[in-house]
Amino acid sequence: MDALPVSEVHEWALEKHERLRRYIDAAHGARGKFSSRCYVDLYSGPGRALVVETGQEIDGSPLVAFDAAARQGDQFTEFLIADINEDYVRAAERRLTEKGAKVRAFVGPAHRVVEGIAAALDPRGLHLAFLDPYNLGDLPFSVIRRLASFKHMDLLIHVSSMDLKRELHHYLQPEGRKALDEFAPGWREHVDTKQRQDLIRRQIYEHWCGLLKGLGTSASDRVEAVDNSKHANLYWLVFVARHRLAHKLWEAVANVSPQRRLI
Ligand SMILES: C[S@@+](CC[C@H](N)C(=O)[O-])C[C@H]1O[C@@H](n2cnc3c(N)ncnc32)[C@H](O)[C@@H]1O
Repeated sequence: MDALPVSEVHEWALEKHERLRRYIDAAHGARGKFSSRCYVDLYSGPGRALVVETGQEIDGSPLVAFDAAARQGDQFTEFLIADINEDYVRAAERRLTEKGAKVRAFVGPAHRVVEGIAAALDPRGLHLAFLDPYNLGDLPFSVIRRLASFKHMDLLIHVSSMDLKRELHHYLQPEGRKALDEFAPGWREHVDTKQRQDLIRRQIYEHWCGLLKGLGTSASDRVEAVDNSKHANLYWLVFVARHRLAHKLWEAVANVSPQRRLI
């Protein structure tokens, strides 16, 4: 225990971390072949979190990533972390540094810091980006486009299906459209907003996947749907990569629970 900030999470965060851990485990053979391999986390949080249902304190994503790579003996050469909350990112930076990680920390919204992060990445390296915002409005496609421009960049993206469900009405109003325009540019030409809400949501998601394809990457068909204890779907964990091998690794490790997957 330290005196640094700790965020609050729900127990399904454990599943998200388990998938991150497993992918890092599985990709270690590939990672070992690259001299530059960064872990990128643009919504890092403080690095420690309290599970509200159980009171258990757990590591946050950057520390989960550090420990997973440490176990395999091919640590990330650098951790590029960012968060809009300065106290959080400083806490994550300190916790990682204390473990011996090389860290560069950025403060600000993802769309502002992504360019500085891209400038810090070796274009010949193999990198993993974990994008874990609370809602779609915080996940502009420009962020993904920039990161996906690297030849060997795997992305594990948390897309909040709950936000899309809860806020769909707002997102379809003139005052709410900007968020959706940024998340999935061009959606208005591809989505029929007169149909049922679940079909609208599906079309928005499919359009977003189409945008990923346009970058030369693809989203794995294996989308993990994470539900809460009442079986309400909360988010989708979407794996995006350019290379077949990365997709194969994800497919082998993605399913950590018997929950249904798929949209
Ligand atoms: C779900 S939490 C991240 C949890 C962390 N990935 C983990 O697993 O431990 C989302 C984080 O995004 C940050 N955030 C919210 N809006 C943001 C934005 N536009 N850009 C960057 N960070 C943002 C919040 O401060 C919060 O720490």
